[in-house]
Amino acid sequence: MKKRKSFSTLFGKKILVGVSGSIAAYKIPELVRSFIKKGAEVRVVLTRDAAQFVTPLTLSTVSKHDITIDFIDSEKSKWNNHVELGLWADLFLIAPATANTLSKMATGSCDNILLATFLSSTCPIFCAPAMDRDMYLNSATKKNIETLRKRGITILDVDNGELASGLHGLGRMCDIHNILIKLENFFSKLMPFFGKKIFITAGPTYEKIDPVRFIGNFSSGKMGCELARQAAYYGATVDLILGPSSETVNHPNITVCNIETADELFDLSEKKFKNCDVAIFSAAVSDFKPIKIEKEKIKQKTITIKTIANRDIVAMLGQSKKNQFLVGFALETENEERNAIEKMKRKNMDLIVLNSLRNKKTCFGYNTNQIKLIDQDLSIQEFPLMEKSKVAKIILDEILFKNKYYNSINKILK
Ligand code: C5P
Repeated sequence: MKKRKSFSTLFGKKILVGVSGSIAAYKIPELVRSFIKKGAEVRVVLTRDAAQFVTPLTLSTVSKHDITIDFIDSEKSKWNNHVELGLWADLFLIAPATANTLSKMATGSCDNILLATFLSSTCPIFCAPAMDRDMYLNSATKKNIETLRKRGITILDVDNGELASGLHGLGRMCDIHNILIKLENFFSKLMPFFGKKIFITAGPTYEKIDPVRFIGNFSSGKMGCELARQAAYYGATVDLILGPSSETVNHPNITVCNIETADELFDLSEKKFKNCDVAIFSAAVSDFKPIKIEKEKIKQKTITIKTIANRDIVAMLGQSKKNQFLVGFALETENEERNAIEKMKRKNMDLIVLNSLRNKKTCFGYNTNQIKLIDQDLSIQEFPLMEKSKVAKIILDEILFKNKYYNSINKILK
């Protein structure tokens, strides 16, 4: 079992940091390092004055990217593309934001690359002002901050305390630990499954016949792994129970447990099901297993294997269901919809994903799938052949919709 690292909603996010010329700039390398440690990708744009307070070398080392300071990079004879930087970012943090930078942001002035990037950015923008007390309290600065707030820019409150001038009062840049928390909270609001536990079964099961042979099936585990990735991307904590598969999933919010047999899958599912919010059963579980596993390798060429039924995991857990939302899969070759509906009702599922084998590029081993979604109201949604990653998104979006977790799905980042 892989150990779960603590998850941050900054994982995988692209954060652009704009640094202007205040003494608080010396704290930014530490902040950038924290972003990186949380799994974010960071790029930095500096004003010339900021480069006096904190070296580009330090920032490029901690961010693992070149730093942008000027419109023209004379060393490389190239133009730095501020538009691209703005489009790249999921969030633009301007910290520290001096009184001068805030004023230019408010008026739309654009005489350095930080400001040009600001003007062309379409992502959410956060600002952490930093300046001396009386500059902060000056009505011109207050007005500029108010103007920016009204335009939808999040202004982080300054701290009260000792200032570089020796004065005491408001004006210190928001503590970098608090900046980190504010950004994590911001992203968590865009993750509709944040705080939810999703349990997913995936892949085939192997039922041993003798030490070298088994009864299995062609399931690759791809669909279940895509579901796990999408659920984690939406902020859920995911428990993935995976049968023998060459697929790997690597995400700090996904715990993978590997199993082989239907019995192992049953035991783990029973434990995980109790505390989950959503359970998705995409595993292709063997319906039967040999009554007896031979101790030695079978030598005969013609054999009869006596089997007994495996327990039906979904059906059994479906009976004990409390508030869990239960999603199952069906693979049918005839009377597809009728059989899937019967299965959904019998196993007490809330939603069933019907796979069809009619299209050659669906199901086992392929990266594509073609599904129908059927719910308890018997509404049937049909989808064309598409990548399994897209199918996973459709299924997760349907779960969000059905559970009214559907708060801000349209705002979810690219
Ligand atoms: O009955 P059938 O195997 O078609 O049912 C498919 C659904 O039931 C899938 O969601 C599958 O993961 C689940 N299942 C199970 N335990 C079994 C057999 C199927 O959880 N023993």
